[in-house]
Amino acid sequence: MALIALGICGGVGAYKAVEVARGLQKRHHEVVAVMTDAARHFVGPLTFEAITRRRVVTDQFEPGANANIEHIAIASDIALLLVVPATADIIGRFAAGIADDFLSSLYLATTAPVLMAPSMNVNMLAHPAVQRNLETLAARGVRFVEPGEGYLACGWMGKGRLAEPDAIVEVAERILRPAGPLRGRRLLVTAGPTYEDLDPVRYVGNRSSGRMGFALAAEAMRRGAEVVLVAGPTTVEPPAVTELVRVRRAAEMHAAVMDRAAGADAIVMAAAVADYTPAEAAAQKIGKTDGPMQLTLVRTPDILADLGRLRPSLPGQPVLVGFAAESEDVVNRAAAKRVKKKVDLIVANDVLQPGAGFDVDTNAVTIVGPDGAEAVPLQSKAAVAGVILDRVEALLEKKTGARK
Ligand code: PMT
Repeated sequence: MALIALGICGGVGAYKAVEVARGLQKRHHEVVAVMTDAARHFVGPLTFEAITRRRVVTDQFEPGANANIEHIAIASDIALLLVVPATADIIGRFAAGIADDFLSSLYLATTAPVLMAPSMNVNMLAHPAVQRNLETLAARGVRFVEPGEGYLACGWMGKGRLAEPDAIVEVAERILRPAGPLRGRRLLVTAGPTYEDLDPVRYVGNRSSGRMGFALAAEAMRRGAEVVLVAGPTTVEPPAVTELVRVRRAAEMHAAVMDRAAGADAIVMAAAVADYTPAEAAAQKIGKTDGPMQLTLVRTPDILADLGRLRPSLPGQPVLVGFAAESEDVVNRAAAKRVKKKVDLIVANDVLQPGAGFDVDTNAVTIVGPDGAEAVPLQSKAAVAGVILDRVEALLEKKTGARK
């Protein structure tokens, strides 16, 4: 979900950076390893290359490293610069603004947050020069994962032991994931159309671009949620989310949603799921004749209705939000749908209203809940997503109490 530059320096804790890389990947982040010369005395670049599945940066003068001035390229792409272990040397070079290798150049070139996990001998850490460098960096906004107390690799007792990898990953995650009203919540969002194939060439689809669902996913991320986004085929790029699942057919979307529903605190079904699909998709292209083509279409699984029916057995008892694409009698139809499908809210949009509904950046909706209907006038889908998530937050708080 985010690209993190993991700077590894020449300390005995360098081997723990491997666990840090794995922990970040488990949280769906990408890691690019940047090793100092000294680090390579402790762990080989191949280890990090195998884990990150990316070229490990070891030398800014390596052929090709300056093809696109790599430290500038990485500097602008990363969401976090994380240094593990942070030795007295790198702390000093960062504090002094020395740029004599790739990692120290990257520190000066990036505007991303910087997190360092110091690790060194207890006396080195206590030395006034090191303390002054730490203060200098803290004053610039660099954050630290405090080293532990105890038995040090050098045989001394005291403060200086590298923090545990899990603790480092947790602090990194808190920096990457803003604290927000949905922090600690897991949302499952669907977006876009589904395509129902007639034959290898033709399919039945609809005009959904994914914008509404993507706006909901992006806003939920911004509010600190973990977001699983299940998206049909779209030309619009989805936002960065915790997990992106691409599907094509309604049956695939059904499977993807049902597989992930148990872990969700809330599920928002903004996707335009096909109601019908060809009774069977032809293996070969259907030849054309002079006469009409008859199609037999059968119902697809109703994902939202299944969620409503299964909710009592779902551990998370998720808040369920459906949408309704209507062209007449919008609110009454949405209210009927809400009861029939046993969901908390139905967000209804009149798809004939100019600027609303399919494939536009704006929407006007009516949020239909147990206490009545709330009109949300025409505005950006991002703003509409904010209103919808406000209602979801209220339902979550009512259900589980305010998050701490
Ligand atoms: O993607 P955009 O271009 O931004 O357009 C946004 C949108 C118009 C697609 C969106 O605002 C919207 O209305 N999405 C729902 C469209 C739809 O399928 O509405 P419906 O009334 O046919 O379905 C009602 C609900 O049941 C929806 O939550 C839908 O996801 C769900 N459904 C429908 C069919 C099905 N087989 N399974 C379902 O779960």
